[in-house]
Amino acid sequence: MKETVLVIDFGGQYNQLIARRVRDLNVYCELIPCGTPLEKIKAKNPIGIIFTGGPNSVFGADALKVDEGIYTLGVPVLGICYGAQLIAHQLGGKVRSAAVGEYGQVKAVYKKSVIFDGLPEEGVCWMSHTDSVSELPDGFEITAFTADCPVAAMQNTQKRIYAVQFHPEVAHTQNGTLMLKNFLYKACGASGDWTMKDFVARKVAEIREKVGDKKVLCAMSGGVDSAVAATLVHRAVGDRLTCVYVDHGLMRKNETEEVRQVFKDGLGMNLILADAEELFLRKLAGVTDPESKRKIIGREFITVFEREAEKIGKVDYLVQGTIYPDVIESGSGDSAVIKSHHNVGGLPDVVDFEEIIEPLRDLFKDEVRAVGFELGLPEQVVMRQPFPGPGLGIRVIGEITKEKLETLREADFIYREEIAKAGLSGQIWQYFAVLTDTRSVGVMGDMRTYDYTVALRAVLSVDAMTADWAKIPYEVLGAVSSRIVNEVRNVNRVVYDITSKPPATIEWE
Ligand code: XMP
Repeated sequence: MKETVLVIDFGGQYNQLIARRVRDLNVYCELIPCGTPLEKIKAKNPIGIIFTGGPNSVFGADALKVDEGIYTLGVPVLGICYGAQLIAHQLGGKVRSAAVGEYGQVKAVYKKSVIFDGLPEEGVCWMSHTDSVSELPDGFEITAFTADCPVAAMQNTQKRIYAVQFHPEVAHTQNGTLMLKNFLYKACGASGDWTMKDFVARKVAEIREKVGDKKVLCAMSGGVDSAVAATLVHRAVGDRLTCVYVDHGLMRKNETEEVRQVFKDGLGMNLILADAEELFLRKLAGVTDPESKRKIIGREFITVFEREAEKIGKVDYLVQGTIYPDVIESGSGDSAVIKSHHNVGGLPDVVDFEEIIEPLRDLFKDEVRAVGFELGLPEQVVMRQPFPGPGLGIRVIGEITKEKLETLREADFIYREEIAKAGLSGQIWQYFAVLTDTRSVGVMGDMRTYDYTVALRAVLSVDAMTADWAKIPYEVLGAVSSRIVNEVRNVNRVVYDITSKPPATIEWE
């Protein structure tokens, strides 16, 4: 049983970041809602509990609380920001609402506390609050203060309850990671058993035991999550796993070939590459509306997958590349449909199977990547940028034809090559070329041309919900542009997309 820390979510903006930091310190943790019943918390047998920040005030009628029984479990608690105020409020101290808040980097003085072990006496911390603790609960002492905040940190060593008004999880707090490390290792006594190597060993054993001599099926999209999930399951059960990859003819240059090389030739996976390019192009012929294109691609993908799955017959397990952010973010409500998303997650309905295996369900994206490397997958698979399920189908604006796809593939390939050459690949969230349906007049070698315009898109983002356009140096853009117009047929103009999301979206369709 691995050591677990519970991060209790009060809705603050850095909650996932806290969980990330704890995992980076080699301690497994889960983010759970603050309303989780005490029994459930106890059943997880945590070695430590962290309260996150949150937008509420402890005074509000709708203030988020935890079951006070949590303080009597004998498990060390660290309250951060709102979490610190809640501890004071629930244990009999006082919280006051200041006229003006304290925001940004502030100098703090640290006193003796296990949380501040190894820190200089003074340092900069990141504050973001209006309320603060004005009177300590019984048994507590002050362990840090700032000019405006007399209780910047407090503790009750007997009960092993610690609280900080500032945010140790953000990079602006000097030595913040060390504070979290002190809490985990010195207060909670963690041993640090959360490493990707251990994770792989544990998961492989678990999957092997579960699957036994039964059959497993996985839909591979070429994306990181499904690739890592499939490889992990393959390591556990070998030939009992069959993977199906639907080649819709809308992949980028060399991608399908790469999938074949890495997974079929390299790993010896039982991989079915269903060549359906002709079918997709036929169904998409003459279609220009973005939503219709998305729907057709999604539907045909399922048709092809279903046909292949039928050939295999009944399977016992279906593998899905669900990752932790999908789990925490699922259950979203009734927001407007901006685009009908297509990914391989919607397949369960069409396969005859007993149970889903989601080996990456507990992992953040960069942990998934670390597992990929641990499994020996090549960098181009593990570090692959996000790619939409409908592929280039939504990057050829308007009607899709084989020729247009070919043009886009070449332009996109040049763009990727130049970005890599400039050493920018790791710094941009997503970058790709779009073949617009605009044609314009140009001149090449004294001849008039009337050809297509390629748009280059590059964005910086954390979660794809919002994005800023990337400020790629002009020289790099210039190099991409001249190579595209010189090397790619039917293109005589290149433009750079300088819109953020919102109001634009990342993809053009
Ligand atoms: P938008 O264009 O909505 O894209 O700003 C946000 C992110 O999602 C990707 N994307 C998709 N991913 N299936 C996917 O799996 C889809 O249908 C799909 N459409 C967009 C897009 O590339 C960006 O990273």
